[in-house]
Amino acid sequence: MTLPIQIAPSVLPANFSKFGEEIRELDEAGVDIIQFDVMDGQFVPNLTFGPDVIASVRPFTKKPFEAHLMVLTPDVMAARYVEAGCQRLIVHAEACTHLHRTLENIRALGATAAVALNPHTPASTVEHVLDLVDMILVMTVNPGFGGQSYISTMEPKIRQVRSMINERGLADSVHLEVDGGISPQTIAGAAAAGANVLIAGSALYRDPKGLSHAVTQLRQIATESFTG
Ligand code: DX5
Repeated sequence: MTLPIQIAPSVLPANFSKFGEEIRELDEAGVDIIQFDVMDGQFVPNLTFGPDVIASVRPFTKKPFEAHLMVLTPDVMAARYVEAGCQRLIVHAEACTHLHRTLENIRALGATAAVALNPHTPASTVEHVLDLVDMILVMTVNPGFGGQSYISTMEPKIRQVRSMINERGLADSVHLEVDGGISPQTIAGAAAAGANVLIAGSALYRDPKGLSHAVTQLRQIATESFTG
């Protein structure tokens, strides 16, 4: 049995001058988890949230937080992001010399661990660490910015990761997340390829009918399209 469809916002488009209220509104709009796109200006050409910023908005919702660590040295600050209130840490395979050890360390901190794959990185990269993760993230943009176009040529890779998860009997414990360019026009392809967690940033915030409508619409399309 595969895990349920989850819709999670990227908070990059949020109004940071009232971040706490923005988090509360995402909660009320029905998102399942909240993803913080952590960027260090080195691994990606952008700079975003430190752990103190995440800690400051933790009280505004009870929903789980995940930190997408688009950083060169995820081991250095992993503990700080867990202390800030993140239940899951997502590290990039491309940033980890010793990925197996990094994932073990995250689990030892009491968080769940996930691996993100940039568009050029093959699915086979995670073959020997599937026992250490509760999620694999397949990027459908090159990381660093919101508002980019969905890279549909990643769909075969999404299928490959879904097959790996299912063949190992992990469909009821390991999520498959997709992040980048997810919208009402692209989410069906990602879900049909096997993604059950879908990250959306600009598609949520640009919906003229508001966040709740956007979340509901994305969840409905993904649920109808999903093949796990
Ligand atoms: C890339 C970012 C974006 C963001 C989603 O580094 O992580 O993928 O989460 O942004 P949209 O939904 O606007 O592509």
